[in-house]
Amino acid sequence: MSNPTLNDNWRRSHHCGEIRVSHENNEVTLNGWVNAYRGYKDQIFIDLRDRYGITQVVFEADSSNLPMFKLAEKLGREFVVAVRGKVRKRLPGKENRDHATGEIELFAIELKILNECPTPPFEVTEFPGIELAGEDVRLQYRYLDLRRPSLHATLAMRHRMNKVIRDHLDNLSFLELETPLLGRSSPEGARDYLVPSRVWPNSWYALPQSPQIYKQLLMVAGYDKYFQIARCLRDEDLRADRQPEFTQLDVEMSFVNQDDVMKVIESLAVEVFEKCVAFKLETPFPRISYAEAMRRFGSDKPDLRFGMEIVELSDIAPRTEFRVFKDAIEQGGKLRAICAKGGAAKFSNTDLKPGGRISEFAINQGGKGVAWLKAEAGKFVSSIEKFFPADVQAELRTRLNVEDGDLILMVADKEDIVCSSLGALRLHVAQQLGLLDNLKGVFNVCWVVDFPSFIHDAEEKRWVANHHPFTSPRVEDLHKLESDPGSVIAQAYDLVINGYECGGGSIRIHDPEVQSRLFSVLGMSLEQAKHRFGFLLDALKYGAPPHGGVALGLDRWAMILTGTSNIRDVIAFPKNQKARDLMTGAPSTVDAKQLKELGL
Ligand code: AMO
Repeated sequence: MSNPTLNDNWRRSHHCGEIRVSHENNEVTLNGWVNAYRGYKDQIFIDLRDRYGITQVVFEADSSNLPMFKLAEKLGREFVVAVRGKVRKRLPGKENRDHATGEIELFAIELKILNECPTPPFEVTEFPGIELAGEDVRLQYRYLDLRRPSLHATLAMRHRMNKVIRDHLDNLSFLELETPLLGRSSPEGARDYLVPSRVWPNSWYALPQSPQIYKQLLMVAGYDKYFQIARCLRDEDLRADRQPEFTQLDVEMSFVNQDDVMKVIESLAVEVFEKCVAFKLETPFPRISYAEAMRRFGSDKPDLRFGMEIVELSDIAPRTEFRVFKDAIEQGGKLRAICAKGGAAKFSNTDLKPGGRISEFAINQGGKGVAWLKAEAGKFVSSIEKFFPADVQAELRTRLNVEDGDLILMVADKEDIVCSSLGALRLHVAQQLGLLDNLKGVFNVCWVVDFPSFIHDAEEKRWVANHHPFTSPRVEDLHKLESDPGSVIAQAYDLVINGYECGGGSIRIHDPEVQSRLFSVLGMSLEQAKHRFGFLLDALKYGAPPHGGVALGLDRWAMILTGTSNIRDVIAFPKNQKARDLMTGAPSTVDAKQLKELGL
């Protein structure tokens, strides 16, 4: 089949979202896709769609243009056509308020089919209330899925976000600089994607988990204010908000402290939210310490759009007769609870019984279970109610602000298990009770600060960096780096929006000696540290300025701005949950010849 270029006769004079009543009687040419087709004996209506909108086109059978009518009868959904016609006002009552072009239609004079399309594997058109096709088939035919107007809007929003970011940071004298994709492994805590070198047998590049080390080297080189909209690659288990390949706004600044970095990000966030979703964020963003976030919300990325805070009950536990609670406290653990307002009716005793779905929230976190009390008719109803003397019951009521119809969920265990169990339950209960349903368009931003520098890996029996090993501890904690690493607090900060970790950064170590000490706390010998990061330790020696920065997860920002909980909804060509590209089939096998060249 020939593949002629679109000659001038058929090139669009307008796009499909443009024509109004003011164009009445004009002759125009439109190019686009057939979005919908309705055929009658003497009339055919199509909705013609392009990136800008939809225009109704009508073909009428009369003796003068029967061949065109016959051609129009062949049209199907997603055919690509050029139509020349005359703009006319729709008959009164036939207007379509859903489209900006809804008061007019194009009365077709000439039609050209530019390309045909077999019946698509799913409906491209989006109808309110109609569920989309399954995600797998949509990812397999992503180019069709991407035709959906809502995906067009999302990707246009990402364009807007990037533009706002670039303009904002340019105004603040930041330089947008690129760093390599083929580099050396950088330790962000995930597995690397490795690329074999053909020229150097048995040697591998690592794709960047982030540009962390390079941006620090740019500070050593005096670039002072850097940013990059950078692709990052991490081979880690995927979740609804994680992709193996994702985009960061990466930022680094010299001669700054934590507040300076936060201020830049706050001003940037204000502008992004204003320009992308017309939402006004108040600054400064609230700050909450890691310890407080864990205690009150059971999470280092607290969703502050609703309350249901975790309440301390450890002091009450010894006054109950419940062995599980008493034992937990005697062993140095905690007893804490949340009160689900109106939750008594929502959760059945089957949900709540040991081994039921509520207990899973503790068991998944390494705990034993969840105890519960329902408040009904001024009393508590539960199989364990008898273990709570009257005065303890009264105290529970006041402390948790309990009313009839409420459900108390309690976890007693080691503190970290209590936090993570109740943190997960808090989110689950909020979702079940519909607390998040009316929050569309509400954005709650906060900083989480004062993270511990290290966490203890019980399995490997060693300390690991909580952020990455270049994060500076607080100066006042440096003296206990070796003696009490668990109590060292980092100069690190995370940006949390609506319960998502949307950014993280820190002030870096710029003293090579402190950097070596830190590697050693992490169990890295001087030799190992030199082998992996010798170039960085060297660079720090050559006059490194104090510096710090942050990276924002732009895919997560796009998720929040567009109100989706699925990261694949905001990426043009995402991987599925198993890191596979269902459209191209990547990862795939390669030719034996390619492997041989690589010495594999
Ligand atoms: P961090 O590892 O916290 O920090 O990453 C920064 C932000 O990137 C986003 N993010 C992801 N988004 C989607 N899919 C993923 N797999 C994924 N992993 C991370 C999150 C996160 O907050 N170099 C440091 C930053 C610094 O210290 O300046 C870093 O990469 O929103």
